[in-house]
Amino acid sequence: MIIDLQQATARLRNGEVVAVPTETVYGLAASLSLPHAIAQIFSLKGRPENNPLIIHLADPSQVIPFAKSLPAGFDRLVSHFWPGPLTIVIPILPETIPEKARAGLATAAFRVPAHPLACALLTQTGPLVMPSANLSGKPSATQAQHVEADFGPAFPVLDGGACNKGVESTILYYDEKDSRWEIIRQGALSAESFAQILGYTPKIVGKENTATPLCPGQLYRHYAPKAELRLVKTFDPTMQGVVLGYPEHIYPPGCRLIPLGTLSSPGSVAENLYAVLRALDVEKIPAAWVDMNIPENGLWSTIAERLIKAANK
Ligand code: TXA
Ligand code: MG
Repeated sequence: MIIDLQQATARLRNGEVVAVPTETVYGLAASLSLPHAIAQIFSLKGRPENNPLIIHLADPSQVIPFAKSLPAGFDRLVSHFWPGPLTIVIPILPETIPEKARAGLATAAFRVPAHPLACALLTQTGPLVMPSANLSGKPSATQAQHVEADFGPAFPVLDGGACNKGVESTILYYDEKDSRWEIIRQGALSAESFAQILGYTPKIVGKENTATPLCPGQLYRHYAPKAELRLVKTFDPTMQGVVLGYPEHIYPPGCRLIPLGTLSSPGSVAENLYAVLRALDVEKIPAAWVDMNIPENGLWSTIAERLIKAANK
């Protein structure tokens, strides 16, 4: 059910959960100050309790009351990338944030989104927690209709059209031992995009499977359609059926190409990614080949990571 800004504001103040567009993906929003609304988010999504939420703010200065300390370089990062698809994890004063939102951790994740509707809403409501608006494990939602597909047609959605980044924010964490920022979840900002601001390209960590990853959400199955995805770098004629690929590449005769976008624009691939994965299920396609013969740098690295997770049953 599509609602407007005023209705979204009223519902959030009333302790309800509504879906909200951001420039990355749609979020399921609840007021940070209403723990029962936060609890609703976990049950609606089927989200494990030990997976903390990102706190979304209207303005960078709103971080201050929550922060125990601000790591070196925080101000530079924030003034360059906020509003935008960057999430930063910092040590917090635990009593300022409901335990449920931060999954009991002594840190919390913050982001100032760039979508005009999200900004207008946050100005009205104050801080909101917003995980991606999908059932846990499923591809994220980048259109209002994706949210309704997961939560039903009666679920309230503030419709902001299609999200233009299409993949989640990049999450940075400051490693005190190395005195360096690290990427604990790849996202809409590539590692390379931080080089000029930080003076180095942050390392992407957590690719190793450890029992205690820096980013708890990385433990779980993610972004996966019902369709079985078979990732391949080269094709042979025995590979038939649906291919998620690129118009610039040649596939075996008889295959049906569903374009992920074009090789000249990783941004377009990211933007379409979850819509393409969701379309497989809408069309009841049981399996698809995925062309992984793509560059490894920049946003391609995020795209590859999402496809690998989506294929992981
Ligand atoms: O683009 C985005 O970030 C979207 C939009 C709606 O803003 N939100 C989003 O939220 O992707 P979610 O809940 O789907 O993913 C948040 C990730 C999870 O993997 C969680 O474990 C991690 O952030 N996270 C949250 N707080 C953390 C913390 N204190 N330390 C490490 N990771 C944290
Ligand atoms: Mg998510």
